[in-house]
Amino acid sequence: MSPDLEAVRRARLGILISGRGSNMVALSDAVRDGGIPNAEIAIVISDQMDAAGLDKAKERGIETLVIERRGRKRAEHDREIIAALRAKNVDLVCLAGYMRMLSPEFIATYRGRILNIHPSLLPAFPGLEAQRQALEHRVSSTGCTVHFVDETLDGGPVIAQRAVPVWETDTVESLSARILTEEHKLYPETVSVVLRQVANKE
Ligand code: GRF
Repeated sequence: MSPDLEAVRRARLGILISGRGSNMVALSDAVRDGGIPNAEIAIVISDQMDAAGLDKAKERGIETLVIERRGRKRAEHDREIIAALRAKNVDLVCLAGYMRMLSPEFIATYRGRILNIHPSLLPAFPGLEAQRQALEHRVSSTGCTVHFVDETLDGGPVIAQRAVPVWETDTVESLSARILTEEHKLYPETVSVVLRQVANKE
């Protein structure tokens, strides 16, 4: 078979969620519509049984798995997630509202292949309630960041950012909604760039 007729191996994404799953939906829509070319979503894993994102994934025909964190040590919980990702031959792990720090073993296993999206312009406002932090600091703009995940809380190398204005009349809800609209564009765009870079290196 000539090389151009050979099937290009599609990159396999594993998405970790804990809740609503709107970024997972944005990634999945981008895979479907070609915004993230040559990729497929191998699995969506939630650490919460009642995560709303699970139904959204199922509606899209994506395989889901719940690996509950409750009452389990991080290392043991993460080992189970790593096994599930390996079983699905996942190339790139995307955290999308996943609310637990990853163990050193998880980071070591997928180093350079774990992305996260955070609703601020890191390194400003890491951790919880980034939008509330932005309002409390009275900044005039904030935004969202896609970064590689390392052992630090929201501290890994930044890959891409998008700024969003903060209005005097903003509430946490209005600001979060404005940022989220940008998150849904930035995350798929960034995943597609990262996958292109990985493919070029192979
Ligand atoms: C998003 O704001 C994301 O930046 C943050 O958690 C939120 C998850 O939202 N890490 P969703 O579950 O993707 O709707």
